[in-house]
Amino acid sequence: MQLLTVKNVVLISMAGIASAKTILGVPIPDGLFTGSWYGAPDNNFDCIDSKGRNPVVLFHGLSASREVDLNLLHKSLVSEGWCVFSKTYGSPIPLENPPIGGLRNMTVSSHEIADFILQVSRQTKHDKVDIVGHSEGGVMVLYVPMTRSDVAAVVDHAVALGPAVHGAHYFGAADFFQSLPSPFPYLINKAVGKLCEACVDMEFRDGVITQAFAAAKKIVPSNIKASIIMSNYDTLVNPATSKVNEVNVKNIIIQDSCPDDHSGHANLAWSKTVWGLIKNELQETPNAPIACDNGTPW
Ligand SMILES: *[C@@H]1O[C@H](CO)[C@@H](O)[C@H](O)[C@H]1NC(C)=O
Repeated sequence: MQLLTVKNVVLISMAGIASAKTILGVPIPDGLFTGSWYGAPDNNFDCIDSKGRNPVVLFHGLSASREVDLNLLHKSLVSEGWCVFSKTYGSPIPLENPPIGGLRNMTVSSHEIADFILQVSRQTKHDKVDIVGHSEGGVMVLYVPMTRSDVAAVVDHAVALGPAVHGAHYFGAADFFQSLPSPFPYLINKAVGKLCEACVDMEFRDGVITQAFAAAKKIVPSNIKASIIMSNYDTLVNPATSKVNEVNVKNIIIQDSCPDDHSGHANLAWSKTVWGLIKNELQETPNAPIACDNGTPW
């Protein structure tokens, strides 16, 4: 439940409600940086996977970081011998390991992410790497290869968890203000954008990233095997918002494998069902049995 608290305070701060003595106006709960669920293994570029699998690069979601989102998946993969890399991107906080990322302009962040993917390929001496992202990170694992052919060339598998490809609706608020008369949508965009440029970039209809996907003839370059993993209980980014209908993209609903997994958007990062599906997609063993989680609807 601590994770829920963390997500909530971050989301509340994005709405400008929280204040005071904190990081970016976000009250940080005691124990945040010491719990076993916090922190990711260091990136080890000398890592060798004895099974010869591609290096895996993980990208966190909005307002999260490498330490608090896919970090538990990171630990699980490392414990099974995979070589895994992750990086906090898009942080407005000038720290070496900022706890909050993904807020800054996504066009800018996309190049930060591209550089990191290329760095992993180069430093591990692997021609191909796999990339996995959650939420905004999921958008990025599709957007970066779409817009950077140098990155597309080194990506083998891309797995996106609940990506808002067709535009996010922030708790209905975005919808609401889009329907107001001009210039309100513009003014509110500007106000939200101050705290979270990435929120504006992924917005339904008006976001520049949303528009780039809408304008694309093909989203996923044909050399890449992409998988989009979604939950029917995701009320923030529902499956219709995430699906991409292209020959080299698999759209996977977690309840088709595990009907009792009630994971919502945030929990896609922690559900064991999702971890099993990711590992199967990366190894191209789609029918290997997975352990089912009964994830909670947040
Ligand atoms: C982010 O940068 C792009 C490219 O410069 C720009 O088109 C977009 O409006 C920016 N987003 C925000 C929220 O300022």
